[in-house]
Amino acid sequence: PHTSKWKVWSEEDVIRSLPERSGNVHKGTFGTGLLVAGSDDMPGSAALAAIGAMRMGIGKLSVFTESGARNVIATLVPEATYLKRDFSKRLNDLGQKFAGVAIGPGIEPDEQLESFIHGVLKEPLPVVLDAGALHKRAYPKRTAPVVLTPHPGEFSRMAGIPTGQIASDRLRLASAYAQEHGVIVVLKGQYTVMAFPDGSGYVNTTGNSSLAKGGSGDTLTGMLLANICTYANIKEAVANAVYIHGACADLWIRENGSATLTAHEFSRLLPKVMHQLE
Ligand code: APR
Ligand code: MG
Repeated sequence: PHTSKWKVWSEEDVIRSLPERSGNVHKGTFGTGLLVAGSDDMPGSAALAAIGAMRMGIGKLSVFTESGARNVIATLVPEATYLKRDFSKRLNDLGQKFAGVAIGPGIEPDEQLESFIHGVLKEPLPVVLDAGALHKRAYPKRTAPVVLTPHPGEFSRMAGIPTGQIASDRLRLASAYAQEHGVIVVLKGQYTVMAFPDGSGYVNTTGNSSLAKGGSGDTLTGMLLANICTYANIKEAVANAVYIHGACADLWIRENGSATLTAHEFSRLLPKVMHQLE
């Protein structure tokens, strides 16, 4: 790719681009997000994403999930509201009701989910797709951004590229996909790359191997949802979520053994990390 259009996203970049939150604001200022996540078998991923979104600063959050999952999550995230999930029902006027939507953690992909995603992509609001929502598909032309957050295995599945070829060529492959499909690709792992449809991109340097544990990606999805709802600039929204997510893990290993991180505990470090950046 045009590496001149790529840069490392630094702490100074984060500090410069954190949105102003003081003054005459109210919860509506920071948007209402819709989280489509979790299932009876995987309630935790929705909880982790919801906690990530609330901690990161979203104004209000609605979680669209299965009823079994809701009973688990509601006690963990009392700040959110809950909608009983029925993918056969179209959610109307999403663009009016919500500032952004994230879909995928803790959901098994099936045809109903796929047609739901197609419906959402027709609505004029930014969308984050992760985990069960990541597949080979065509993306419609739209003005609101689409953010895809694959780990290398998911990127392999959605791009049809063998996993073995991805590791050595992450920046170029993510950028090619982003430009071809008109989407933002957050290809996760050590040095997460963020590729934008215009050929530009950022590389993240925060985070460490303590994050290599189920659940840490779900937290990131929630943090991204918060940022797409609260930032005017989508590149800054994405880059800051990725940077801050990694920075929490970096703080974790300063005080704790790196094997011991759990996603729900490391998101408790968000207040401290954000305080240092504000
Ligand atoms: N250095 C820095 N960051 C890392 C590292 C590392 N060595 N390893 C992992 N991470 C970060 C990634 O960048 C990403 O932000 O941790 C997060 C991991 O996200 P996912 O891979 O999506 O993990 P998660 O969804 O929480 O759990 C894995 O996904 O594919 C399914 O079945 C799989 O249950 C598993 C689940
Ligand atoms: Mg994941």
